[in-house]
Amino acid sequence: MSTSVDQKQDFFTVVHERHSVRYYDPSVQISKQELEDILQEATLAPSSSNLQPWRFLVIDEQALKEKLLPIAYNQQQVVDASAVIAVFGDMEWFNEGEKIYAKSVEAGYMSEAVKQQMVATVDNGYRNMDEARKKKIVHIDGGLISMQLMLVARAKGYDTVPMGGYDVAKFNEAFEIPAHYENIMLIALGKAAKPGHATVRLSVDEVTHWNTIK
Ligand SMILES: Cc1cc2nc3c(=O)[nH]c(=O)nc-3n(C[C@H](O)[C@H](O)[C@H](O)COP(=O)(O)O)c2cc1C
Repeated sequence: MSTSVDQKQDFFTVVHERHSVRYYDPSVQISKQELEDILQEATLAPSSSNLQPWRFLVIDEQALKEKLLPIAYNQQQVVDASAVIAVFGDMEWFNEGEKIYAKSVEAGYMSEAVKQQMVATVDNGYRNMDEARKKKIVHIDGGLISMQLMLVARAKGYDTVPMGGYDVAKFNEAFEIPAHYENIMLIALGKAAKPGHATVRLSVDEVTHWNTIK
């Protein structure tokens, strides 16, 4: 079954109604166009120096989802969901700086002088960072894009589950992932066959300090 959901939901409804869904209707297909729309809106997420280190591999062919199943420890959602989106952080993301800032100049959002300054900052900063700091940046930005993707999907009437439960080494090998792509997570995306179960949260009091942490 092919589906296109037009309904638009209020932001707070989206936030409250997003739950991790692990049972999907396997007959639901989401068109390439709609997946692209979801990704496009997700990419409005913020990123360090607007360098957008996120990269995606959309897995929506059934045979490939089945190939992923054992790698994802037999979590059935990877075959029943319409697509699994693998989110990566490109460890060489700063190479796109020149292109991104040139687009900003072209759009009239940035002067050529600021662009030169930004490119120099990227070259002096990110390029020479140690691996651990680079990884931290792509994981932060990768988390932001992943959250935004899940909320956009929910706003469009779809369900998701973020997944860290997979064998990264086997995944990289099976899907021929370039060495400079750092795995962030997989996101299964589709239409729920069974709603996600309710979960609890620590209270704000339990997780918040005001002005000082002792
Ligand atoms: C980084 C990350 C990895 C996760 N990995 C898995 C996973 O491999 N399989 C799974 O079923 N759920 C996974 N989850 C979903 C969490 O269990 C879920 O978000 C949490 O229980 C809260 O439930 P909720 O998303 O419905 O609010 C993961 C969540 C995150 C953020």
